[in-house]
Amino acid sequence: MPIQTAANLVIFGATGDLAQRMLLPSLFGLERDGLLPDELRVLGCARTQMSRDEFAALCREHLSGRAVSSEDDASLERLLKRLDYHPVDLSSDGSIDQLTGYIRKRRGEGDILFHLSTAPSWYSSICAALGRAGLNDAGTRVMLEKPIGHDRISSVEINNGVAEVFDESKVYRVDHYLGKDGVQNLLALRFSNALFEPLWNAQHIEQVQITVAETVGVEDRAGYYDEYGAMRDMVQNHMLQLLCLTAMEPPSHFEPTAVRNEKLKVLESLRPLTGDALERNTVAGQYCAGAINGQAVPGYLEELGRDSRTETYVALRAHIDNWRWSGVPFYLRTGKRMPHRVTEIYIRFRPVPHSIYGTAGGTMQPNALIIRLQPEEHIALCLMNKKPGLDRDGVHLSQVALDLDRHNAFDQEHRRMAYERLYLDAIEGNSTLFVRRDEVEAAWQWVDGIYAGWHKLETVPKAYQAGTWGPSSAVALTERHGHSWRE
Ligand code: BG6
Repeated sequence: MPIQTAANLVIFGATGDLAQRMLLPSLFGLERDGLLPDELRVLGCARTQMSRDEFAALCREHLSGRAVSSEDDASLERLLKRLDYHPVDLSSDGSIDQLTGYIRKRRGEGDILFHLSTAPSWYSSICAALGRAGLNDAGTRVMLEKPIGHDRISSVEINNGVAEVFDESKVYRVDHYLGKDGVQNLLALRFSNALFEPLWNAQHIEQVQITVAETVGVEDRAGYYDEYGAMRDMVQNHMLQLLCLTAMEPPSHFEPTAVRNEKLKVLESLRPLTGDALERNTVAGQYCAGAINGQAVPGYLEELGRDSRTETYVALRAHIDNWRWSGVPFYLRTGKRMPHRVTEIYIRFRPVPHSIYGTAGGTMQPNALIIRLQPEEHIALCLMNKKPGLDRDGVHLSQVALDLDRHNAFDQEHRRMAYERLYLDAIEGNSTLFVRRDEVEAAWQWVDGIYAGWHKLETVPKAYQAGTWGPSSAVALTERHGHSWRE
């Protein structure tokens, strides 16, 4: 049976933080622009006992505080009209079966998309209940939030539970970074311009840096975060996806199998960080009290209220062992409570082999491509230029950037939330921007190796002051190799 547009969206965890902060505002954005299928009904499910009207009132309250202006009232009413609610206690089979019975009865024409935005430990039992009710037929698919597990073994267990009910082709694993337009533009930039591909390899690229820095701390998620840490929360998924898009071979088409096959090859070529390499090539940090933008902020342990060895910062020097990338270091770093929010990919090319100006021209800097994804989207190509002048004391060179501000370049285009794109794709049955099972498991395998090494070495995260770029050992990680972090 061909995939049809979903006419039903069922959100498990509909009163949770993600739903209220991201999912409903994204649905609202699509509704406002007339992009939701007319027949789409949205069923919210969560533990709280409440009526449809109470759920709609809750959503109205959240949306009015965020996405909606007074001119949008009609769109808001349209969205609220689509909503329905059914309480569910996931720890009770009886309660889930009651819910699935309800879904079966009110299932309209068209496909049904289940979005599991609960703790991943519930995924298997929710899917089992959907299976019992026959809600895994050809017209169904399921969207899963990260993290899929805590390590490879637990992710395999969850994936197995889901696979007993849903074929892999119907499983849409979310990494919301893939829903970001700037992230999708990485592929467009690489594979729609002839300029870069001949240079995109170890012969011409000296190093790559991927930074995802956040100013926020763990906010009200300390319980979750303390179990996961920066490696599981950010590196295993968002950072490795960025690495894949930067390093992958050109897929034959922009379609699910071709794109995901190429990403998987990158993950499988990541050199394991074990033994001696581990100590030299990884840094774990944890923020202590400091200041961000002049505001004093507490340390992680104070926020948590107890002792912990969980890392809030990770820096890594990774290698992709294949022909294209042999010998090129990929520096990855991510952290909470950094001086400012930035997500950026920095590609530094090799220097020219010989300067025709000798030393007189000043320091010759290698070309660099900087792809900034957040908070603003910028692409800068740094080039050496001659400083204007008569050159009586020799030619002077200086590096200047060809700078593309994507917001200005596309100022007519409305910027979308990641989930607007992801919802629309899942509703239409396109899984290109979702993560396949083997990718998730390969990413865990690499991350597990690092954790195992840290465990063996009894690694304690190094303290760094909130509002700084991480522990000083992160500086040594690059400088040892004659490199330095871009700041
Ligand atoms: C989430 C992590 O997946 O991504 C959070 O769980 C993190 O800890 C967030 O803050 C960052 O996303 P974004 O879109 O703000 O860069």
